[in-house]
Amino acid sequence: MKSYDIAVIGGDGTGPEVVRESIKVLDAAGAKFDFKLNYTDFDFGGDRYLRTNEALPDSAADDLRNFPAILLGAIGHPDVKPGILEKGILLRLRFELEQYVNLRPVRLYDERFCPLKDKKPEHVDFVVVRENNEGLYTGSGGFVFKDTPHEVAVQESINTRRGVERCLRFAFEYTRRRNKENKLTLCGKTNVLTYAFDLWERAFNEIGDNDFTDIKRDYAHVDATTMWFVKNPEWFDVIVTDNMFGDIITDLGAMVQGGMGIAAGGNINPEGTSMFEPIGGSAPKYTGQNVINPLAAICAGQMMLDSLGETEAAKCIEDTVIRVTRENIKDLGAGRMGYSTTEVGDLVAAGL
Ligand code: IPM
Ligand code: MN
Repeated sequence: MKSYDIAVIGGDGTGPEVVRESIKVLDAAGAKFDFKLNYTDFDFGGDRYLRTNEALPDSAADDLRNFPAILLGAIGHPDVKPGILEKGILLRLRFELEQYVNLRPVRLYDERFCPLKDKKPEHVDFVVVRENNEGLYTGSGGFVFKDTPHEVAVQESINTRRGVERCLRFAFEYTRRRNKENKLTLCGKTNVLTYAFDLWERAFNEIGDNDFTDIKRDYAHVDATTMWFVKNPEWFDVIVTDNMFGDIITDLGAMVQGGMGIAAGGNINPEGTSMFEPIGGSAPKYTGQNVINPLAAICAGQMMLDSLGETEAAKCIEDTVIRVTRENIKDLGAGRMGYSTTEVGDLVAAGL
């Protein structure tokens, strides 16, 4: 029997609760499709930071590299200043493990949950490939004359040919494998950011001309992209963009698909260790109440199986999530599902 060693970072707030339900579903899928998952817990998060004053031990990335995948609950603690855990754990792992793509499927499972008038599941089904290691997120920049009236703050967007190219190649290949409309849209701002997105656009066209003539290419400015997400989400198949724009448009995408209760993402290193997470955050006020929606974490587990090559099991989980969402769930929001966190996990696990 195939087996996979999975690192688990339950993290903060409701993270551990939703990861528990994801594991319940993954194990049920393993039983059905004949594979086994072995889990190793890592206690990274706000509590550990408050105890040790260290967000992440220096050995963390090397330890995690021994695993093909990481399942992450949530990072963010009300008693820790914003930025410390995000940068010290989440971004550090994305960078050190070279998870250079943030993959965010945006799929509406049930039209009841779409905030857009007259949009149905067939209209909302696209994937955002967000560059995950560069852009405005590298921390490049600094202050001059800090705390004086002449203070200057510079925050630089770093775009390397290598970093942009590997993200674009992933996006082209993903579009081909998805085989829906075989269309890849570059989302940028070529009319203003004439250095960064010039590089992106040249690389996009060169790679497309040389190696992906079967993939249709399209371009949209980021501001226009937000309009189309709301007005014509059906125009999109796969979208590729930089780190900052990707951060923004994927939250909009999450809302269009029904909200944080259902939105999952993968931090992908195609040659190494990838990390899968519900994108909703730690939701401190719901911690320990058994009311948070675990479907996003379950979908993160589904993406993890897909990346491990268990594609049949992954598809079965997604189909079951769709069915449970349509037939059972009253509302995707915490406390309004009509079921508890554990009951939703049970419904999906049994439904497989
Ligand atoms: C996300 C989050 C992170 C990001 C934060 C928590 C650092 O918003 O995964 O989209 O900005 O990338
Ligand atoms: Mn974000």
